[in-house]
Amino acid sequence: MARARLSSLQAVRLRCEYLLDPVGVDERAPRLSWELTCAEAARRGARQSAWRIVVRDRCRRVAWDSGVVSSDRTAQVEYEGRILLPFETYAWQVRVWDERGDPSRWSSPAHWTMGPAQTGPLGTRSWSWIGPGMAELWDEMASRPCPLLRKAFTVPRRIERATLFASALGVYEVRINGKQVGDRVLCPEWTDYTRRVQYQGYDVTGMVRPGENVLGAILAPGWFAGRIGPARFINGTLRGVYGRALRFTCLLHLDLEGEETMDVASDPSWKVTVDGPIRSSDILDGEEVDARRELPGWDASGFDDASWLPVAASQGPVLTAQPCEPIRVTRELRALSVSEPAPGIFVYDLGQNMVGRVRVRLRGAPGERVRLRHAEVLNPDGTISRDSLGINNPAIPTKGAPQEDFFTCRGDGEEVFEPRFTSHGFRYVEMSGAPHPPAPEDLAGRVFHTDAPQAGVFECSSQPINRLLSAIQWTQRANMQGIPTDCPQRDERLGWAGDIQVFCETAMFNHDMAGFFTKWLRDLREGQTADGRFPDYAPHPFNPEACFSGNPGWSDAGVIIPWRLYEWYGDRRIIEQSFESARRWVDHGERENPDLVWRDAGKLLPLYYGDWLNADTCENVPGIPAKGAEVPREVYATAFFALSAHIVSRMARVLGRADEARRYALLAGRIRAVFLRSFVSDAGRIKGDTQAGYALALHFDLLPARLRPRAAARMVAALRPYGGALSTGIQSTGRLMRELSRWGYGEEAYRILMRSESPSFRSMVEHGGTTIWERWDAWVESRGYRPSPVGSFNHWAFGAVGEWIWRVVAGINPGAPGCSTVTISPVPGGGVTWCKASHHTIRGPVRVDWSAEGGSFRLGLDMPPNLSATVVLPVGSRAGVTESGVAAARAPGVKTAAGKGSKAAFVVGSGVYRFEAPFTSSPTGEPC
Ligand code: BGC
Repeated sequence: MARARLSSLQAVRLRCEYLLDPVGVDERAPRLSWELTCAEAARRGARQSAWRIVVRDRCRRVAWDSGVVSSDRTAQVEYEGRILLPFETYAWQVRVWDERGDPSRWSSPAHWTMGPAQTGPLGTRSWSWIGPGMAELWDEMASRPCPLLRKAFTVPRRIERATLFASALGVYEVRINGKQVGDRVLCPEWTDYTRRVQYQGYDVTGMVRPGENVLGAILAPGWFAGRIGPARFINGTLRGVYGRALRFTCLLHLDLEGEETMDVASDPSWKVTVDGPIRSSDILDGEEVDARRELPGWDASGFDDASWLPVAASQGPVLTAQPCEPIRVTRELRALSVSEPAPGIFVYDLGQNMVGRVRVRLRGAPGERVRLRHAEVLNPDGTISRDSLGINNPAIPTKGAPQEDFFTCRGDGEEVFEPRFTSHGFRYVEMSGAPHPPAPEDLAGRVFHTDAPQAGVFECSSQPINRLLSAIQWTQRANMQGIPTDCPQRDERLGWAGDIQVFCETAMFNHDMAGFFTKWLRDLREGQTADGRFPDYAPHPFNPEACFSGNPGWSDAGVIIPWRLYEWYGDRRIIEQSFESARRWVDHGERENPDLVWRDAGKLLPLYYGDWLNADTCENVPGIPAKGAEVPREVYATAFFALSAHIVSRMARVLGRADEARRYALLAGRIRAVFLRSFVSDAGRIKGDTQAGYALALHFDLLPARLRPRAAARMVAALRPYGGALSTGIQSTGRLMRELSRWGYGEEAYRILMRSESPSFRSMVEHGGTTIWERWDAWVESRGYRPSPVGSFNHWAFGAVGEWIWRVVAGINPGAPGCSTVTISPVPGGGVTWCKASHHTIRGPVRVDWSAEGGSFRLGLDMPPNLSATVVLPVGSRAGVTESGVAAARAPGVKTAAGKGSKAAFVVGSGVYRFEAPFTSSPTGEPC
C-alpha cells in the first residue's frame, strides 16, 4: 500500500482538563485538547479532518486507542479507555489528518497523573490531618507562630517515580530534603473548608533518594484560621471563621525499582514545633519573621528534633483535585525610586499597583526590627496613604488590612526577607527601622496570581487606550487569587460574583480562564441556598441562607458565567454541572415574583446593590448631577431575570432537554413582554431614563426590533445631562459601550473612551491609575482624592470596558460554541491609526494587525489551522479591496461572505492574509 504523504499539520500544546501535564486529576473521563500548527507558512485553509489518540500507562500498556475519528474537534475530547487507576501517570499522543486526508506525525507525549482521591477506602485511610496540639490553637484575637512539621523516612532502593499529594487546613509550604516543593503560593487556596479542600499534586521524582529523606511542612492560618475581614461585623469574630486548629495532610507515593510501591503519609509519627522564625502570619495583617530563630537544616536529614512535640491528628474534610492553575509568582518589579518623606521613613515606588509581596536584601544589626508597610497611593507629603486599606475608616466597621510585615535581622551580613503566607495590594512600600535603607535595586515586588495562561496581547496607536488596557490587565492579575476577588488590598477580598460576572469576557480575552472558572463556579454552586439563591460572593464563609445572597446581577453569575464558558471553550460539562443550580435560581425568581416584575430586591440582606457605584454615588463632582443615574430596581432586576431565563433555556437545549428548553424560552418571552409593558414607552423611553436602563435592555435583547434604535438614541441622549460622561454603575458600563457600537454610535463610544475630564477612564489612567479604580470619583481634578471612603484603586468591574476594546478596536470576536469561528471586524475611530493584537483561543492564536493611514485600511491576519474567520472591513464596499495584492474576491482561500450589509466581508481559513482597501476617515477618525 502506498504510504500517505505526511501532513504539515502538527498537534501541539496538549492539555488534560485544561492543564498542561496535571498531577492530580480526579475526573474519571478527563477531557483532552490540543492545538494545531502548520509548518507551511503559505498554506491556507488547513483543517483537521480526523484525529486519533493513544493513551498509555507507565508500563506502556495501551489504556485507550481511540482509532481514527472523523472530526475537526480539538477540544473537550473525553477519554473513553480503560478505568483509570489512582496514582498512575498516563502518557498520551495525538495524530491528526488534514483536509487532504494526509496524516501528521504523532505529537510529542503529554501526561496526566491521577490523584489518590480515586482510591476509595484505601486512599481515605491514608489521609490523616496533623498539626500542633490544643495549646497552639489559633487564638481568635491574636495570631501565633507558624508551626513547622517534619518526618524522616528511609527509602530502601532506587526510585522510579515519586509523587506527592498535599493539602492543609490553613495554607502550607511543603519541603523535601531542604528544598521547597513546587512554586505554589498560598495553597491549597480558598474553598468552603467545611465542605471540601483542594489537594495539590507534585512530581517530586528528582527530590527523593534512596536512604534517609525528610519531608517538612510549614503552616500558616490563611483563610481557614486567619482573618476574613467582614467576619468581624458579620459574626463577631476576627479570626478562625472555619476553624482554629491548623492541619497538614500529605501522601508521598513512591514507585520503587522492581514494581514495588511505598507510601509516606502524614500520621501521628510526625513532629511539630512552633519555635520557628515566622512569629505570626495573616493574609490581611502581614507577616512577622525573626531571622534569629531560623532552624537551619530542620527540613533535611541529620537535624535533631528531640525537643519537637508529637503532632495531634484528626480527620479532615473531603479532598478534591485543584482544577486550575496555581497562584504563583509570575514576575518581579524592581523599585524605581526611594524617597525619605519623614526622617527614617523610606518610601519605595514600584511604579505599578500590584499584588504579591516584597523581597528585600538588607543588612542590619542583630535584633534590628524592620517594618514594611504597603499602600496603593501616597499622601500629598509623600508618605503612604492607608485609607484605601480600610484602616481607621469609621465608615467601614472592619479593622482594615494593615498589610505590614516585620523582619528582625540576624545581623551576620546580607539577609533576604520575603514573607510567605501573606498577600498585599500595593504600589508603594514604606520601610522604617532600618538605619541603612537598601538601595532601590535591592527591593523587588514579587507579583503573584492564579497563573492562568495569558491569552491577550494588545497595542494600538493611542497611549490612553494602551494604558487603560494595561491597567485592566494588571487589575485582573491582582484579583485572580484562586477566587475572583473584588479588591486585593483592603480587608474585603471576597469572591464577589457581580464583579466577575460583568468582567468575565474581558477576563477571557486577557487570560485563558477555563480552569479558574471551573474551580470558582463550584464554590458558587456550593453556596447556593435551599430556595435557589446563589451567594453574592463565593466561597461564602458566613451563612448565605441569612445574608449576602440572591442579589440580581450577583446571583446571575451562576447562570451567565457557565454559559460564557460554553461559548468560549465549548465546555458542555460545565453546563451539565450548572444547569440544575441555574434553573433553581430562575425558579426562585419566578416564585418570588409571580407577575414577573422582580420586586423583591428591597428585601435583600443586608442590602440591594443594583447598578452599584453609578454616578449617584459620586461626591461633589462638578458637572455630575447628584441624582438620576440609578436605574430603577425593578427595571434592573427584571432585566437580569429575563436574561437568566433565556440562558437557562439555551442550556437546556445544549443538554437536549427539550421540555425545559421550551419552558424557559417561554418564561423568558413572558418576562420580556412584562418588561416592555411595564417599563418601556412606545417612543423607546425606559422607566428612569437612565443610561444604564437602556444599556441593559439593549444588551440583554429585551426590546422588539422597532424600539431598539429609539432606545439607543435615548441612551445617547442620556449622556447629555452628564456633559457626555458616563453615569453608569459597574453592571452597565461595559455593556453601554458595546451597545453604542452595536447601534451605530461607535464614534460616541470612542469619544467616551478618549474623554479626559474626570470622571472618565482616561483621567483614571492619566492621574496615577495603573489599575482600575473602584469608584469613578476616586480622584477628580476639582478636589483630588475622594474623602472617605476613598474606595479601592484595584477593582476590575469598570474594567469590563476591556471587552469593548478587544471586540471593537482589535476587532476580535470569538464565535460560539468553543470558538468554532471568529469574526474579525475592527472599527477605527477616536484617532486610533493602528492596532496590533493577538488572542489565544482554545483553537490557537489569532493575530490581527491593522492600520488606517494614508488613504488605505490595511489588515494583516494570521489564523491558526482549523479555524475560519469572517473578516469585516470597515469600508463601504468590496470594490477595490485586495488581499496580498490581488482582488480579494479572487484571492486564493478567500471567499466573499454573504449577508453582511454594505460592509466588505470575506471568509478565510487558516493562514496569513493581507487585506487592503481604500479608506477615508472623518475628522474624528471614524470611517465615512
Ligand atoms: C465590593 C464590590 C461588590 C459590592 C457589592 C463591595 O464592597 O467591593 O465589588 O460587588 O460590595 O455591593
